[in-house]
Amino acid sequence: MRTLITHIAELTTNVSEQGDLCGTRYDAAVLIDGDRIAWVGDAKDAPSVNAAGDATVDASGRAVIPGFVDSHSHIVFGGDRATEFEARMAGQKYAAGGIRSTVAATRAASDDELRARLRALQEEMRAQGTTTVEIKSGYGLTVVDEERLVRLASEVTSEVTFLGAHVVPAEYEGRAEEYVDLVVGPMLDACAPHSRWIDVFCETGAFTVAQSKRVLEAGVAHGLLPRVHASQLGPGEGVRLAVELGAASIDHGTYLTEADVAALAGSDTVLTLLPGVEFSTRQPYPDARRLIDAGVRVALACDTNPGSSFTSSMPFCIAVAVRDMGMTPAEAVWAATAGGAAALRRDDIGVIAPGARADLLLLEAPTRIHLAYRPGVPLVRTVWKDGSVS
Ligand code: NIG
Ligand code: FE
Repeated sequence: MRTLITHIAELTTNVSEQGDLCGTRYDAAVLIDGDRIAWVGDAKDAPSVNAAGDATVDASGRAVIPGFVDSHSHIVFGGDRATEFEARMAGQKYAAGGIRSTVAATRAASDDELRARLRALQEEMRAQGTTTVEIKSGYGLTVVDEERLVRLASEVTSEVTFLGAHVVPAEYEGRAEEYVDLVVGPMLDACAPHSRWIDVFCETGAFTVAQSKRVLEAGVAHGLLPRVHASQLGPGEGVRLAVELGAASIDHGTYLTEADVAALAGSDTVLTLLPGVEFSTRQPYPDARRLIDAGVRVALACDTNPGSSFTSSMPFCIAVAVRDMGMTPAEAVWAATAGGAAALRRDDIGVIAPGARADLLLLEAPTRIHLAYRPGVPLVRTVWKDGSVS
Protein backbone atom coordinates (compact mmCIF):
# COMPACT_ATOMS: atom_id res chain seq x y z
CA MET A 1 0.00 0.00 0.00
CA ARG A 2 1.19 3.51 -0.87
CA THR A 3 0.32 6.89 0.65
CA LEU A 4 0.97 10.19 -1.07
CA ILE A 5 1.14 13.21 1.24
CA THR A 6 0.86 16.22 -0.99
CA HIS A 7 0.80 20.02 -0.84
CA ILE A 8 2.96 20.04 2.29
CA ALA A 9 3.39 23.72 3.12
CA GLU A 10 6.79 23.16 4.76
CA LEU A 11 8.63 19.83 4.68
CA THR A 12 11.58 19.22 7.01
CA THR A 13 13.67 16.50 5.34
CA ASN A 14 16.86 16.89 7.42
CA VAL A 15 18.76 16.24 4.21
CA SER A 16 20.87 19.27 5.00
CA GLU A 17 21.89 21.65 2.29
CA GLN A 18 24.30 24.54 2.37
CA GLY A 19 22.90 27.00 4.90
CA ASP A 20 19.79 24.94 5.66
CA LEU A 21 20.29 22.38 8.41
CA CYS A 22 16.75 21.01 8.00
CA GLY A 23 16.74 20.61 4.21
CA THR A 24 13.44 22.48 3.99
CA ARG A 25 11.13 22.18 0.96
CA TYR A 26 7.95 24.13 0.30
CA ASP A 27 4.75 22.89 -1.40
CA ALA A 28 6.30 19.45 -1.34
CA ALA A 29 5.05 15.87 -1.53
CA VAL A 30 6.20 12.58 0.00
CA LEU A 31 5.35 9.09 -1.22
CA ILE A 32 5.26 6.27 1.33
CA ASP A 33 5.47 2.71 0.00
CA GLY A 34 5.05 0.04 2.66
CA ASP A 35 7.24 0.92 5.64
CA ARG A 36 9.62 3.17 3.68
CA ILE A 37 9.77 6.59 2.06
CA ALA A 38 9.76 6.02 -1.70
CA TRP A 39 9.92 9.53 -3.13
CA VAL A 40 10.29 13.18 -2.01
CA GLY A 41 9.84 16.20 -4.27
CA ASP A 42 7.73 19.15 -5.38
CA ALA A 43 3.97 18.63 -5.17
CA LYS A 44 3.63 19.45 -8.85
CA ASP A 45 5.88 16.50 -9.77
CA ALA A 46 4.26 13.96 -7.43
CA PRO A 47 3.61 10.50 -8.88
CA SER A 48 -0.03 9.53 -9.13
CA VAL A 49 -1.30 6.89 -6.74
CA ASN A 50 -4.54 5.26 -7.72
CA ALA A 51 -4.11 1.52 -7.24
CA ALA A 52 -6.51 -0.26 -4.91
CA GLY A 53 -5.52 0.48 -1.30
CA ASP A 54 -3.49 3.60 -2.17
CA ALA A 55 -4.30 6.80 -0.29
CA THR A 56 -3.70 10.51 -0.74
CA VAL A 57 -3.46 13.00 2.11
CA ASP A 58 -3.77 16.69 1.28
CA ALA A 59 -1.55 18.56 3.76
CA SER A 60 -2.39 22.04 2.44
CA GLY A 61 -1.29 24.70 4.88
CA ARG A 62 0.47 22.24 7.19
CA ALA A 63 4.04 21.20 7.94
CA VAL A 64 5.53 17.69 7.90
CA ILE A 65 8.62 16.70 9.89
CA PRO A 66 10.37 13.39 10.65
CA GLY A 67 9.04 11.46 13.67
CA PHE A 68 10.78 12.37 16.91
CA VAL A 69 13.67 10.12 17.94
CA ASP A 70 13.71 10.15 21.74
CA SER A 71 17.11 8.67 22.45
CA HIS A 72 16.96 8.65 26.27
CA SER A 73 14.20 7.29 28.52
CA HIS A 74 13.69 5.20 31.63
CA ILE A 75 10.08 4.10 31.18
CA VAL A 76 10.10 0.66 32.83
CA PHE A 77 9.48 1.41 36.49
CA GLY A 78 7.00 1.11 39.33
CA GLY A 79 5.46 3.87 41.47
CA ASP A 80 6.01 7.59 41.06
CA ARG A 81 7.70 10.40 42.99
CA ALA A 82 5.18 13.22 42.86
CA THR A 83 5.78 14.15 46.49
CA GLU A 84 9.55 14.33 45.86
CA PHE A 85 8.82 16.74 43.00
CA GLU A 86 6.54 18.78 45.24
CA ALA A 87 9.26 19.02 47.90
CA ARG A 88 11.77 20.07 45.24
CA MET A 89 9.53 22.86 44.05
CA ALA A 90 9.47 24.00 47.69
CA GLY A 91 13.28 24.22 47.69
CA GLN A 92 14.68 20.74 48.22
CA LYS A 93 17.68 19.77 46.06
CA TYR A 94 17.65 16.87 43.57
CA ALA A 95 20.10 14.05 44.39
CA ALA A 96 20.81 10.66 42.80
CA GLY A 97 19.63 8.90 45.99
CA GLY A 98 15.94 9.28 45.05
CA ILE A 99 16.48 6.55 42.44
CA ARG A 100 16.43 4.00 45.26
CA SER A 101 12.78 4.65 46.08
CA THR A 102 11.82 3.82 42.49
CA VAL A 103 14.01 0.70 42.73
CA ALA A 104 11.92 -0.51 45.68
CA ALA A 105 8.63 0.12 43.84
CA THR A 106 9.95 -1.52 40.65
CA ARG A 107 11.12 -4.66 42.43
CA ALA A 108 7.67 -4.95 44.04
CA ALA A 109 5.81 -4.69 40.70
CA SER A 110 4.87 -7.72 38.60
CA ASP A 111 5.90 -8.07 34.95
CA ASP A 112 2.32 -7.34 33.91
CA GLU A 113 2.18 -4.16 35.99
CA LEU A 114 5.49 -2.93 34.55
CA ARG A 115 4.42 -3.87 31.02
CA ALA A 116 1.11 -2.00 31.32
CA ARG A 117 2.87 1.14 32.56
CA LEU A 118 5.56 0.89 29.89
CA ARG A 119 3.00 0.53 27.11
CA ALA A 120 0.89 3.41 28.41
CA LEU A 121 3.96 5.68 28.47
CA GLN A 122 5.01 4.57 25.01
CA GLU A 123 1.53 5.35 23.69
CA GLU A 124 1.65 8.74 25.41
CA MET A 125 4.94 9.40 23.62
CA ARG A 126 3.62 8.19 20.26
CA ALA A 127 0.60 10.49 20.46
CA GLN A 128 3.05 13.38 20.83
CA GLY A 129 5.06 12.32 17.80
CA THR A 130 7.78 10.02 19.12
CA THR A 131 8.28 7.22 16.60
CA THR A 132 11.52 5.79 18.05
CA VAL A 133 12.32 5.53 21.73
CA GLU A 134 15.39 4.24 23.54
CA ILE A 135 14.62 2.61 26.89
CA LYS A 136 17.02 1.96 29.77
CA SER A 137 16.89 -0.47 32.66
CA GLY A 138 18.30 0.75 35.98
CA TYR A 139 15.46 0.48 38.50
CA GLY A 140 15.92 -3.25 39.20
CA LEU A 141 19.58 -3.50 40.28
CA THR A 142 19.48 -7.27 40.88
CA VAL A 143 20.25 -9.85 38.20
CA VAL A 144 16.63 -10.98 38.10
CA ASP A 145 15.12 -7.49 38.10
CA GLU A 146 17.49 -5.94 35.56
CA GLU A 147 16.86 -8.91 33.24
CA ARG A 148 13.12 -8.27 33.62
CA LEU A 149 13.49 -4.62 32.71
CA VAL A 150 15.59 -5.10 29.56
CA ARG A 151 13.36 -7.99 28.48
CA LEU A 152 10.19 -5.91 28.89
CA ALA A 153 11.82 -2.94 27.13
CA SER A 154 12.81 -5.21 24.22
CA GLU A 155 9.12 -6.01 23.68
CA VAL A 156 8.55 -2.42 22.52
CA THR A 157 11.86 -1.18 21.06
CA SER A 158 15.11 -2.39 19.55
CA GLU A 159 16.94 0.45 21.32
CA VAL A 160 17.39 -1.16 24.74
CA THR A 161 20.07 -0.01 27.16
CA PHE A 162 21.41 -1.99 30.10
CA LEU A 163 21.92 0.46 32.98
CA GLY A 164 22.62 -1.87 35.90
CA ALA A 165 25.18 0.78 36.99
CA HIS A 166 22.53 3.41 37.70
CA VAL A 167 23.21 3.69 41.45
CA VAL A 168 24.58 1.36 44.10
CA PRO A 169 21.48 -0.30 45.62
CA ALA A 170 20.84 -0.01 49.37
CA GLU A 171 21.88 -3.61 50.10
CA TYR A 172 25.36 -2.85 48.68
CA GLU A 173 25.80 0.42 50.63
CA GLY A 174 29.54 0.91 51.23
CA ARG A 175 30.39 -1.99 48.90
CA ALA A 176 30.31 -0.29 45.52
CA GLU A 177 33.16 -2.37 44.06
CA GLU A 178 31.29 -5.57 44.90
CA TYR A 179 28.21 -4.21 43.20
CA VAL A 180 30.25 -3.36 40.09
CA ASP A 181 31.52 -6.98 40.12
CA LEU A 182 27.89 -8.10 39.99
CA VAL A 183 27.06 -5.67 37.17
CA VAL A 184 29.97 -6.69 34.93
CA GLY A 185 29.50 -10.38 35.77
CA PRO A 186 26.18 -12.20 36.09
CA MET A 187 23.99 -9.15 35.54
CA LEU A 188 25.63 -8.29 32.22
CA ASP A 189 25.48 -11.95 31.15
CA ALA A 190 21.72 -11.97 31.82
CA CYS A 191 20.99 -8.57 30.23
CA ALA A 192 23.27 -8.39 27.19
CA PRO A 193 21.11 -10.72 25.06
CA HIS A 194 18.18 -8.26 25.30
CA SER A 195 20.24 -5.07 24.92
CA ARG A 196 21.99 -3.01 22.26
CA TRP A 197 23.61 -0.45 24.58
CA ILE A 198 25.58 -0.28 27.83
CA ASP A 199 25.23 2.84 30.00
CA VAL A 200 26.52 4.05 33.38
CA PHE A 201 25.70 7.00 35.65
CA CYS A 202 29.19 8.52 36.07
CA GLU A 203 28.57 11.08 38.79
CA THR A 204 29.26 11.84 42.45
CA GLY A 205 26.73 9.74 44.37
CA ALA A 206 26.65 7.10 41.63
CA PHE A 207 29.82 5.64 40.00
CA THR A 208 33.42 6.88 39.76
CA VAL A 209 35.25 7.25 36.46
CA ALA A 210 37.24 4.06 37.13
CA GLN A 211 34.09 2.10 37.94
CA SER A 212 32.31 3.58 34.92
CA LYS A 213 35.17 2.58 32.65
CA ARG A 214 35.02 -0.98 33.95
CA VAL A 215 31.29 -1.20 33.30
CA LEU A 216 31.49 0.26 29.80
CA GLU A 217 34.44 -1.89 28.76
CA ALA A 218 32.73 -5.04 30.04
CA GLY A 219 29.63 -4.11 28.04
CA VAL A 220 31.69 -3.56 24.90
CA ALA A 221 33.34 -6.96 25.42
CA HIS A 222 29.79 -8.41 25.39
CA GLY A 223 29.04 -6.71 22.06
CA LEU A 224 27.15 -3.70 23.47
CA LEU A 225 27.73 -0.10 22.39
CA PRO A 226 28.54 2.54 25.01
CA ARG A 227 26.59 5.65 26.04
CA VAL A 228 27.09 7.56 29.29
CA HIS A 229 25.11 9.65 31.81
CA ALA A 230 27.53 12.38 32.99
CA SER A 231 27.92 15.95 34.26
CA GLN A 232 24.30 16.13 35.43
CA LEU A 233 24.86 17.24 39.00
CA GLY A 234 28.31 18.79 38.69
CA PRO A 235 31.44 18.76 36.52
CA GLY A 236 33.33 15.45 36.26
CA GLU A 237 35.41 13.29 33.98
CA GLY A 238 32.56 11.28 32.46
CA VAL A 239 32.40 13.26 29.23
CA ARG A 240 36.06 12.67 28.45
CA LEU A 241 35.69 8.98 29.30
CA ALA A 242 32.75 8.76 26.87
CA VAL A 243 34.75 10.41 24.09
CA GLU A 244 37.79 8.23 24.80
CA LEU A 245 35.65 5.09 24.48
CA GLY A 246 33.91 6.34 21.32
CA ALA A 247 30.48 6.42 23.00
CA ALA A 248 27.58 7.24 20.70
CA SER A 249 26.28 9.78 23.20
CA ILE A 250 26.95 11.49 26.49
CA ASP A 251 23.71 12.51 28.10
CA HIS A 252 22.84 15.46 30.41
CA GLY A 253 25.95 17.69 30.17
CA THR A 254 24.44 20.29 32.47
CA TYR A 255 27.88 21.19 33.86
CA LEU A 256 30.44 21.03 31.05
CA THR A 257 33.99 22.35 31.34
CA GLU A 258 35.90 23.94 28.46
CA ALA A 259 37.91 20.71 28.18
CA ASP A 260 34.65 18.72 27.86
CA VAL A 261 33.42 21.01 25.10
CA ALA A 262 36.71 20.75 23.21
CA ALA A 263 36.72 16.95 23.54
CA LEU A 264 33.12 16.69 22.30
CA ALA A 265 33.65 19.10 19.41
CA GLY A 266 36.44 16.99 18.00
CA SER A 267 34.58 13.70 18.36
CA ASP A 268 31.77 11.52 16.99
CA THR A 269 30.07 11.51 20.39
CA VAL A 270 26.71 13.30 20.39
CA LEU A 271 25.75 15.45 23.38
CA THR A 272 22.17 14.61 24.33
CA LEU A 273 20.59 17.50 26.19
CA LEU A 274 17.60 16.77 28.43
CA PRO A 275 15.72 20.02 29.14
CA GLY A 276 13.02 18.22 31.13
CA VAL A 277 15.64 17.48 33.78
CA GLU A 278 16.69 21.09 34.34
CA PHE A 279 13.01 22.08 34.28
CA SER A 280 12.04 19.52 36.89
CA THR A 281 15.10 19.84 39.13
CA ARG A 282 15.43 23.64 38.92
CA GLN A 283 19.01 23.34 37.71
CA PRO A 284 20.48 25.82 35.23
CA TYR A 285 19.83 25.06 31.56
CA PRO A 286 22.97 24.23 29.57
CA ASP A 287 23.95 26.88 27.02
CA ALA A 288 23.25 24.95 23.82
CA ARG A 289 24.12 28.01 21.73
CA ARG A 290 27.71 28.00 23.02
CA LEU A 291 27.97 24.23 22.49
CA ILE A 292 26.64 24.23 18.95
CA ASP A 293 28.81 27.23 18.04
CA ALA A 294 31.82 25.31 19.39
CA GLY A 295 31.04 22.46 16.97
CA VAL A 296 29.31 19.99 19.32
CA ARG A 297 26.58 17.83 17.75
CA VAL A 298 23.49 18.06 19.94
CA ALA A 299 20.43 15.83 20.37
CA LEU A 300 17.34 16.54 22.48
CA ALA A 301 15.54 13.83 24.46
CA CYS A 302 12.95 13.67 27.26
CA ASP A 303 14.72 11.40 29.81
CA THR A 304 11.24 10.29 30.86
CA ASN A 305 11.61 8.92 34.41
CA PRO A 306 9.74 9.34 37.69
CA GLY A 307 12.53 11.31 39.40
CA SER A 308 14.32 13.96 37.38
CA SER A 309 12.01 14.44 34.37
CA PHE A 310 8.51 13.04 34.09
CA THR A 311 7.62 14.61 30.75
CA SER A 312 7.19 12.42 27.66
CA SER A 313 6.80 15.36 25.31
CA MET A 314 9.44 16.08 22.69
CA PRO A 315 7.55 19.27 21.66
CA PHE A 316 7.88 20.48 25.26
CA CYS A 317 11.65 19.83 25.15
CA ILE A 318 11.91 21.68 21.84
CA ALA A 319 10.06 24.66 23.29
CA VAL A 320 12.34 24.84 26.34
CA ALA A 321 15.49 24.38 24.22
CA VAL A 322 14.47 27.35 22.08
CA ARG A 323 13.21 29.53 24.93
CA ASP A 324 15.95 28.86 27.49
CA MET A 325 18.93 27.17 25.85
CA GLY A 326 19.54 29.43 22.87
CA MET A 327 18.68 26.97 20.10
CA THR A 328 16.90 28.14 16.96
CA PRO A 329 13.63 26.31 16.17
CA ALA A 330 15.37 24.62 13.23
CA GLU A 331 18.24 23.43 15.44
CA ALA A 332 15.86 22.14 18.09
CA VAL A 333 13.70 20.22 15.61
CA TRP A 334 16.85 18.79 13.98
CA ALA A 335 18.19 17.78 17.42
CA ALA A 336 14.89 16.04 18.30
CA THR A 337 14.88 14.04 15.05
CA ALA A 338 18.20 13.69 13.18
CA GLY A 339 20.16 14.43 16.38
CA GLY A 340 18.42 11.59 18.22
CA ALA A 341 19.10 9.29 15.27
CA ALA A 342 22.81 10.22 15.43
CA ALA A 343 22.81 9.55 19.18
CA LEU A 344 21.51 6.06 18.38
CA ARG A 345 23.88 5.64 15.40
CA ARG A 346 20.93 5.16 13.05
CA ASP A 347 20.68 6.49 9.50
CA ASP A 348 17.28 5.00 8.63
CA ILE A 349 15.33 7.37 10.92
CA GLY A 350 15.34 11.13 11.63
CA VAL A 351 15.25 12.00 7.91
CA ILE A 352 12.61 12.11 5.19
CA ALA A 353 14.45 10.70 2.20
CA PRO A 354 13.97 7.78 -0.21
CA GLY A 355 14.83 4.54 1.57
CA ALA A 356 14.37 5.86 5.09
CA ARG A 357 11.72 4.45 7.40
CA ALA A 358 8.36 6.09 6.85
CA ASP A 359 8.21 7.67 10.32
CA LEU A 360 6.77 11.15 9.95
CA LEU A 361 4.47 13.71 11.51
CA LEU A 362 1.82 15.97 10.04
CA LEU A 363 1.58 19.08 12.20
CA GLU A 364 -1.51 21.17 12.83
CA ALA A 365 0.70 24.15 11.98
CA PRO A 366 2.11 25.80 8.86
CA THR A 367 5.73 25.57 10.04
CA ARG A 368 7.88 23.64 12.53
CA ILE A 369 8.52 26.95 14.31
CA HIS A 370 5.10 26.54 15.93
CA LEU A 371 6.48 23.66 18.03
CA ALA A 372 8.34 26.28 20.06
CA TYR A 373 6.05 29.22 19.38
CA ARG A 374 2.94 27.43 20.72
CA PRO A 375 4.24 25.56 23.80
CA GLY A 376 1.89 23.11 25.44
CA VAL A 377 -0.43 22.95 22.43
CA PRO A 378 -0.98 19.48 20.89
CA LEU A 379 0.21 20.20 17.33
CA VAL A 380 0.91 16.63 16.20
CA ARG A 381 -2.11 15.85 14.00
CA THR A 382 -1.07 12.54 12.34
CA VAL A 383 1.76 10.10 13.16
CA TRP A 384 3.02 7.59 10.59
CA LYS A 385 5.21 4.85 12.05
CA ASP A 386 6.72 2.42 9.57
CA GLY A 387 4.27 3.74 6.98
CA SER A 388 1.09 3.19 9.01
CA VAL A 389 -0.97 5.78 10.84
CA SER A 390 -0.63 5.09 14.56
O1 NIG B 1 18.65 10.45 33.77
N1 NIG B 1 20.79 10.44 36.00
C1 NIG B 1 20.37 9.38 36.39
N2 NIG B 1 19.20 8.83 36.12
C2 NIG B 1 17.99 9.51 35.80
C3 NIG B 1 17.27 9.95 37.02
C4 NIG B 1 16.59 8.87 37.65
C5 NIG B 1 15.77 9.21 38.85
O2 NIG B 1 15.89 10.27 39.50
O3 NIG B 1 14.98 8.31 39.12
C6 NIG B 1 18.27 10.68 34.89
O4 NIG B 1 18.06 11.83 35.28
FE1 FE C 1 18.65 9.26 32.32
